[in-house]
Amino acid sequence: MHLFFPKNKDWKNYLLAEMSRDHAFSIGDAHPNLSVVMVDEMINFKNCSVGFSLDFMPNTVTIEDGSISKQSKEIVDQIPMDDTLWVQVFSITEKQGIISHGRSELLYSRLGKDLRKRGVKRGRFNDSNSSVLKVCLFPDRSVRYSLISPQEREKYFSLLSFFPGGFTTIKEDKKAPSRAYRKLVESSLVLQKEITKGNRFLDLGACPGGWSYIALKEGAHVTSVDRSPLREDLMASSLLDFYEGDAFNTPFEGSFDWVVSDIICEPQRILELINTWVETKRCRHFVFTLKFKGDSQYSILSTFKEKIKEVPYSCILRQLNANKNEVMIMGTLKDQESL
Ligand SMILES: C[S@@+](CC[C@H](N)C(=O)[O-])C[C@H]1O[C@@H](n2cnc3c(N)ncnc32)[C@H](O)[C@@H]1O
Repeated sequence: MHLFFPKNKDWKNYLLAEMSRDHAFSIGDAHPNLSVVMVDEMINFKNCSVGFSLDFMPNTVTIEDGSISKQSKEIVDQIPMDDTLWVQVFSITEKQGIISHGRSELLYSRLGKDLRKRGVKRGRFNDSNSSVLKVCLFPDRSVRYSLISPQEREKYFSLLSFFPGGFTTIKEDKKAPSRAYRKLVESSLVLQKEITKGNRFLDLGACPGGWSYIALKEGAHVTSVDRSPLREDLMASSLLDFYEGDAFNTPFEGSFDWVVSDIICEPQRILELINTWVETKRCRHFVFTLKFKGDSQYSILSTFKEKIKEVPYSCILRQLNANKNEVMIMGTLKDQESL
């Protein structure tokens, strides 16, 4: 089975609807009280995006209830001895959703010891040569695990999360002008790309300035566009240029390291931003929010899924923890030399 993890139980029905719309099949809900969706592994999700899934475990193997040491041994026996492996273990529970403590912590620590004994090297999530082992414990104490090779992880780029079950919380920053900053911070973590000192950062629809605030904090040179100015202290920053006007019609030439948009607009207008900044390779990284009114517009996700296959970027289309009725679309230029 493939496992998909919606943000929570409320979003599960939208994930099921997305599956039947974009993958032309409908599935029953084997675990109505858990925020997980199981899909037959005959369905191929390589090079696919699923908007309402925060994480993915392909081709899972099930291990029935047993001692931690027995479950660990069963997993480790399947790992090639010369493998380099990034390991993630979490539990899915009815009450708390995704957690990484308790039994999953014990299994993580046991796996570490057993993998060391077997001579398996530990890798990092963003190391493209490393395999990924994702392990999920179920309430009946059975375990599902996925072993994802470097070649497969490239194909599943838009689906796999660095966070267990896609779940994370972003540290509270009371000085930020709005809570929207959490979306940019989470996007940067999901992309595994940092905003760094001197980066040229274009923030479209920037007011009151949460995203610009984050980029300024990192020492980026920020160009912010909105019809209204940002918070006063941000406007006074020597690293910020403010352009008052329409974010879909800007006078800027050349390219930026980051082009981001949190503009409140109809989702299809984000296609214009993709045409202007992404198809023309005018940024290294982009992060755009798709904002929905109600639940009648989600079918447009299919258009974006096709669109991101055509651009020279490694793209992720996915709802984040920090999103409300939104889905993020983001990417990194594949061939950085060509910028
Ligand atoms: C959700 S807010 C952005 C919040 C911001 N990311 C933050 O962290 O504080 C959306 C902004 O988009 C701006 N906006 C909407 N349409 C726009 C357009 N065509 N051009 C420029 N700004 C626009 C609105 O004025 C509003 O300030």
